[in-house]
Amino acid sequence: MSSFYVVGGNKLNGDVNIDCAKNSLLPILACCIMTEDEVILKDVPKYSDVIAMCNIIQHLGGKVEWQEQNLIINCKSLDNCDVPNELASLVRSSIFTLGPILARMKKAKVSYPGGCDIGLRPIDIHISGIKNLGGKVVEKNGYIYADGLNINGGNIMLSFPSVGATENIMMLACLINGETRISNPAREPEIVDLQNFINCCGGSVQGAGTNEIIIKGVKHLHGCCYKTIPDRIETGTFMIACAMCGGRLVLKNALEEHNQELITKLKKTTCKIEALNDKIIIESEGKPISFGEIETAVYPGFPTDLQAQMMALASVSEGYSLILENLFEARFKHAGELLKMGCDIRFKNGVCIVHGKEKIYGADVVSTDLRGGASLVLAGLRAEGYTTIGNIELIDRGYYKFEEKLINIGADIKRILK
Ligand code: UD1
Repeated sequence: MSSFYVVGGNKLNGDVNIDCAKNSLLPILACCIMTEDEVILKDVPKYSDVIAMCNIIQHLGGKVEWQEQNLIINCKSLDNCDVPNELASLVRSSIFTLGPILARMKKAKVSYPGGCDIGLRPIDIHISGIKNLGGKVVEKNGYIYADGLNINGGNIMLSFPSVGATENIMMLACLINGETRISNPAREPEIVDLQNFINCCGGSVQGAGTNEIIIKGVKHLHGCCYKTIPDRIETGTFMIACAMCGGRLVLKNALEEHNQELITKLKKTTCKIEALNDKIIIESEGKPISFGEIETAVYPGFPTDLQAQMMALASVSEGYSLILENLFEARFKHAGELLKMGCDIRFKNGVCIVHGKEKIYGADVVSTDLRGGASLVLAGLRAEGYTTIGNIELIDRGYYKFEEKLINIGADIKRILK
């Protein structure tokens, strides 16, 4: 377990280049399984979750090569339809391979996925989607066995707009006979990005971002060169850091329209925020007042992936803040670590009440999951004294060169390798 050593108290000033979105890259990597041609993904950060997906592709017989920042995937020689537990347990998005493997090989054996420990995270909606299209699915000994010989397009109504299930079904439906309509799909920007990628490869998907996605199956997908949208959660994390520590940040390659809910809340804390083309400029005195209340919801609601960072902000904001987590039942584990830093947080039935303090203090804490870990780094940057944050491999899943970017804007942080 490596750790970060953070000395708090510095203001944050300067430019930050926001990376390509992790949550776009992961399904798009799975989608590469469906074409025999080369795919070039541009400017891909080496998130450890991306590396884990690359390892799965290689295990399936595909080729993966880095050419500087670009990732070249070639799945021409794919010859395996089995994703074993050793690989699947490392990353939640391993489940995204189920639809694409089934579409390409007509059968799949995929282990239950791992990923951040933030709740039960069942996959029943993925599986019922495949069954609705005529796939046979058997769950046995921790594996999902799927047979796709009789799969055809059809109408699917999702019981909940799950991001992963929407993506899995979209990908599967690309290469099967007939038209598929997904009602009540997730509407996250990453779903639109996946649609754009599939269409770039010669697929036929429309409606992503609305209440219905229509996919017309095609005989094959070809290769393409693609760059994903910016990571809205990395963007949000740096904005919240600035709100807490004070300073002025220019976030480059950042899209205001993907962070509307956050921007509304940060303006309440007294931040000044301006957007110019693909830049967001944020200024803060570092003396935030409470944002009031946030309630996590599916897009365009407040993202659950920024809830932990908002808890760190609430902990240093004048007044009381209320945080409701509606998506993942175990996504408050960072609260226990923030308490060690002198934060005043009470928790009951999925609701946190945070009483902001002018001062919080450095402590030895441990990342509980990817975004929870990021929230502890932010708290450390604002705290009096020094903080060590353990188990930062969890942070590396979704932030690339996090400490380098923070050092560039004036933070005092270093990585201690184990
Ligand atoms: C994706 C994101 C993750 C984000 C989450 C919610 C990726 C790689 N990850 O995760 O960062 O936190 O969306 O915005 O894109 N559910 C079921 N059955 C299912 C599937 C989901 O009950 O078959 C439930 C989950 O337990 C959860 C809710 O639906 O309570 C949302 O999950 P989902 O949208 O599927 O999230 P992920 O795709 O796992």
